[in-house]
Amino acid sequence: MKSKKTESSTSWLYSPSPESTAHISLRESYDLYINGKWEKPISGKYFDSINPANEKHLAKIAHADQADIDKAVKAARKAYDTAWSKLSGSERAKYIYRIARIMQERARELAVIESLDGGKPIRESRDIDIPLACNHFFYYAGWADKLEYAFPTRKVEALGVAGQIIPWNFPLLMAAWKIAPALATGNTVVLKPAETTSLTALKLAEIIHDAGLPPGVVNIVTGFGDTGAAIVNHPDINKIAFTGSTNVGKIIQKAIAGTSKKATLELGGKSANIIFDDAPIDQAVEGIVNGIFFNQGHVCCAGSRLYVQESVAEKVIQKLKDRIQTLYVGDPLDKNTDIGAINSKEQLQTIDKYIKIGIKEGAEIYQPACNLPKKGFYCPPTLFTNVAQSNLIVQEEIFGPVLTVQTFRTVDEVIQKANNTPFGLAAGVWTDKGSRIFNLTTKLRAGVVWANTYNKFDPSSPFGGYKESGFGREGGVHGLSAYVKLS
Ligand code: NAI
Ligand code: MG
Repeated sequence: MKSKKTESSTSWLYSPSPESTAHISLRESYDLYINGKWEKPISGKYFDSINPANEKHLAKIAHADQADIDKAVKAARKAYDTAWSKLSGSERAKYIYRIARIMQERARELAVIESLDGGKPIRESRDIDIPLACNHFFYYAGWADKLEYAFPTRKVEALGVAGQIIPWNFPLLMAAWKIAPALATGNTVVLKPAETTSLTALKLAEIIHDAGLPPGVVNIVTGFGDTGAAIVNHPDINKIAFTGSTNVGKIIQKAIAGTSKKATLELGGKSANIIFDDAPIDQAVEGIVNGIFFNQGHVCCAGSRLYVQESVAEKVIQKLKDRIQTLYVGDPLDKNTDIGAINSKEQLQTIDKYIKIGIKEGAEIYQPACNLPKKGFYCPPTLFTNVAQSNLIVQEEIFGPVLTVQTFRTVDEVIQKANNTPFGLAAGVWTDKGSRIFNLTTKLRAGVVWANTYNKFDPSSPFGGYKESGFGREGGVHGLSAYVKLS
């Protein structure tokens, strides 16, 4: 299916180039992967996973309740006590490498399923999500037998059973971020994907099965918030790793207060992208577009607040408008698509609500003309200018392709504005001046600061936030710390 074109004559019309789904096999229904077997949910309940690009049904997914979670945690405990904690690091590494290699072999299938189930453009799932997910397993496999070098002079022990709850914006990648370091450090896992994007995690369960991991080392359970809460509240879990909304992060923190459970929480963001007048403007405009419109803006570290130095503001805003006119919004499986489907109807409603709020707050809206597909959940790229720092659209996470644009005059002013948010996940700085970059990286209260680039990820780089964006780091050597007890 061909997506829209704007009335602008500045862009080309490409012929549709849909990725084939012929090589994909999905079961009619998916059970829970517990103790190395596919188990029916005790309640007998299932829910539908749909394709947000056309609202078509994809598969039935088991809805796990407390009794199922109890089975999964028991399996993980037994696997920890009798199998996984008994293996040497180099033996664990072999299993983790095997997972990475099978994922690579099945990369095309995983990419297509990721786009079908979650709505992200195939170009991104194919070139970013799946390769990065494989790389996380490769990277942490490398650490499994070198933990004494990661923590010199310390005794390193696993924590035990890790409960992991992940969101829908990078389904397989988030599963890899969570599972790979946990296994490398000798923990066993109960992981729950988000309810709208369970399929690649279930495919990962098949891969883990084929890799021959001892039963119970990784358990994949599906369901909604109640399923996640059953994991969080299970008494025999030693560690909770969560990525998702700040609201649920707060609920989890309360739930585990006073217990011995360790936690890492990676929550929301409202990250600033800052352009100085000496920046390479065309490159910066590409970076801004990538920073907010990549993955429909469903990125916790999306550069959703743009700060432009006043002297170049007019030029940057015009270039941004011209550029977003050329973005293709539509079928995620079309290789030309830049902006795919919004992950769910609920998320589209949230985004629409904020767009209305922005207009009501008096901001000036710009959206290119788009012929959005009739079925499915879509939102055109949206710019808001003439906004104030106190506006809700500047303060709250929208999690969609919506960018607010403000101007600034001095370095101190922009640092103050960029830091004026409850979040602190990421930031971007665009300038020709190295000293300015270093000045800002020390003063911006953000876990990641990119300079003259945006949304670049690597398994060896730590990632995580300040303030309400959460605590703990994932990725790199830092990511190992979250899964070990040191003495
Ligand atoms: P959410 O936080 O409700 O969902 C994330 C995961 O937590 C899902 O697997 C969900 O089933 C689970 N969950 C929900 N309630 C739970 C509970 N009480 N205990 C344990 N687990 C629970 O996020 P949602 O509702 O899908 O999205 C809402 C907003 O959250 C988005 O609009 C966005 O602003 C933000 N968000 C941020 C993400 C990030 O990467 N930091 C990812 C997804 C959403
Ligand atoms: Mg889905």
